[in-house]
Amino acid sequence: MSTPEKESIRAYAPASIANVAVGFDLLGYPVAGAGDTVTVRRINEPEVRISAIRGLDVPLPKEAASNTAGAALIAMREALALPFGFEIEIDKGIPLSSGMGGSAASCVAALVAANELLDTPLPRESLYRFSLEGEAVASGCKHGDNLAPMLLGGLVLATLERIVSIPVPKAWHSLLVHPEAVLETRRAREVLKGDYRLQDFVSQSANLALVLSGCHTGNAALVRAGLRDVLIEPRRAPLIGGFAAAQHAAMEAGAMGASISGAGPSVFAWFESRAEAEIAAPAVLSAFKQAGFDGQYWISPIDSPGAQLL
Ligand code: HSE
Repeated sequence: MSTPEKESIRAYAPASIANVAVGFDLLGYPVAGAGDTVTVRRINEPEVRISAIRGLDVPLPKEAASNTAGAALIAMREALALPFGFEIEIDKGIPLSSGMGGSAASCVAALVAANELLDTPLPRESLYRFSLEGEAVASGCKHGDNLAPMLLGGLVLATLERIVSIPVPKAWHSLLVHPEAVLETRRAREVLKGDYRLQDFVSQSANLALVLSGCHTGNAALVRAGLRDVLIEPRRAPLIGGFAAAQHAAMEAGAMGASISGAGPSVFAWFESRAEAEIAAPAVLSAFKQAGFDGQYWISPIDSPGAQLL
């Protein structure tokens, strides 16, 4: 059967917050209000190509294998032995190297769109393994903490083998503040090399268990006790101007916890209500401003939607 050369599909994937203080490379959730849009066209040629990337001041690689969206669709084509190819157009809405999951958003939006162009679309979960190939292009290794939340929506625990939705009370809100600075994921991962103290590993495990239990039971006290990164944050915080003051401002405003979003430099905080997050936002922005960085913020339910077709 000949392929419909002109058929194209658009999909949107939101920004996301990875690690969530206690689940390095494992936990993440989407953020409403910022995202990437990707248009995918099914083509007769058995290849993946990128025809446009818009919305950035600096160029991203257009060679498909070096781009997160391209690499993911190459992985999909190969795994499914597809006889046709894809042409991709990317409209970036998430700042680069911001700790907001921009590379993962392009990758997931491309997969969600391409999936609709398959003769038999796959369930969302089945796209995860292809998305891991795309993310590896950006950060140098596979991890699904930005990807899985966009596939499922809400807070997600993402191992390399499986993705699991974690229930979170609807009232709990996230504040994400992005200072106008860049921090490349590869650099932020470099500083994590070296030994870790067993005692810190145990504390971090306890914190992860407290946060997951608190989310499952809607117990904010458990989350307050656990939403603290004793393992990764101490090594990355020195890379982020104004981090300590921004975190302090969020905690002073009543946050359940506040830490680095993904690899940084953005900062996130959890609140028991939208109203509390709204009160905290100007204080966190002001902390970054005093360190010399203008910023932007987003407030959304932790249980926010993932990627969607447009
Ligand atoms: N878990 C990743 C990290 C997220 O912190 O390096 C950014 O890709």
